[in-house]
Amino acid sequence: MTYRDSLAVVILAAGQGTRMKSVHPKAMHKLAGRPLIGWLLETVKDLSPEQIIVVIGPDMDDLAQEVAPHRTVIQHKRLGTGDAVRTVLSELKDFTGDVLILLGDMPLITLGTLEKLIETRHAHEKIGLAVLGAEYDDPPAFGRLIQNIDGTLKRIVEFKDATDEEREISLCNTGAFCVRGDKLASWVSKIDTNNAQKEYYITDLPVIAAGDGFKTAVCVTQNESEVMGVNSREDLSAMEMMVQDELRAFAMENGATLQDPTSVYFSFDTELGQDVTVEPHVFFAPGVSVADNVMIHAFSHLEGVRVEQGAQIGPYARLRAGSSVGENAIIGNFIEVNRSHVHAGAKAKHLGYLGDAVIGEKSNIGAGTVIANYDGFDKNETVLGKGVFIGSNATLIAPLTIGDGAIVAGGSSITDNIPAQALGLAREKQMTREGWAAEFRKRKAKK
Ligand code: UD1
Ligand code: MG
Repeated sequence: MTYRDSLAVVILAAGQGTRMKSVHPKAMHKLAGRPLIGWLLETVKDLSPEQIIVVIGPDMDDLAQEVAPHRTVIQHKRLGTGDAVRTVLSELKDFTGDVLILLGDMPLITLGTLEKLIETRHAHEKIGLAVLGAEYDDPPAFGRLIQNIDGTLKRIVEFKDATDEEREISLCNTGAFCVRGDKLASWVSKIDTNNAQKEYYITDLPVIAAGDGFKTAVCVTQNESEVMGVNSREDLSAMEMMVQDELRAFAMENGATLQDPTSVYFSFDTELGQDVTVEPHVFFAPGVSVADNVMIHAFSHLEGVRVEQGAQIGPYARLRAGSSVGENAIIGNFIEVNRSHVHAGAKAKHLGYLGDAVIGEKSNIGAGTVIANYDGFDKNETVLGKGVFIGSNATLIAPLTIGDGAIVAGGSSITDNIPAQALGLAREKQMTREGWAAEFRKRKAKK
């Protein structure tokens, strides 16, 4: 990059997003498992700005938390994007570098494009600000960019204020601006509400800057998808589909086989190793990393889990946050693993719940085993050593420790610790009556 000035980034996210019809701030809606604001912050961080300030609305504590440690400023009344910028002016009082203004509902803007926008602002000393425009085949209800003959920007007209003729223009305002920090305050103070929506529009800046002897440059991106906006749930799902396709392509490029990519859903941070195979209908919630040569069978749901080399998961497995599955371990059908660590070579192949447990190497958990980790108040831990064998349909009532090589008889309800190499058996002794069944049937038949 060629520019030298220091940089402040202002993200406008005070809008409730009326068209989302939600009680949550628009910027908190999730895209591939991460709030919209998180996508933008992640990109912006790579510009190494001196400060990042996010404008939020009142009662948006969750958004403030998501943004932290970056600063948030509250815009008490949503009077428009121009007013939103005004709320941060006191924070930028002595700041004379570049101020990059971004909209919180445009999360996929790329680093390269932002760098270009900043460079555009520095192309000439008379350029007071640069606006990021995008050409659309079928332009949405965005503001239109009206250029001077020399290609600089004359003004921006909001869709609602535009004439039919102006709406024919395909070059639109994406909402991203780079403005001289030393001029921002005086220009913003001149914005009025003389428009169709009776709002303070940040898009009035080009005309105001011109009055002060400065030009507005336009930086155009050809990449329509990076400037998609989210204004409705439909927009959000369209963006989700696009991001999912990118994540699927990324997984395959890195050597994973997806049998039916369109049925597999990833999170922004999913990591798959080489030669991982993912069968159809698998969902990766945030925080999953999978090592090489892992097989994930159909209809499995994974979240917050590390899966080591050669493990086999599913079909119909649920791996929950705070868990790990060791090398070559097998978690089979209808097994739920919750805050548990299943060590190398251990197996739980059919029907069961492993909660707050450590399953030692090469232990075998029989079908239908339930670890009762919750007593209604506390979550309690169960620790199984190496090579433990749990017979089918056992209930292990935590807290519990079972030593290496111990065996638990099928159908047992285990409440006491079992030492290494011992047998734990806790069920009624069997009673067998010879001939009883035949006599019973005879008796019934006579009636
Ligand atoms: C805005 C632009 C429009 C552009 C479009 C691109 C203006 C006046 N219009 O319109 O030219 O084509 O984005 O998506 O700027 N916000 C606040 N406080 C407010 C109002 C908005 O923080 O008082 C925030 C919102 O949370 C949102 C962003 O600013 O993240 C844009 O607001 P929105 O209402 O979506 O503007 P658009 O109508 O999309
Ligand atoms: Mg918008």
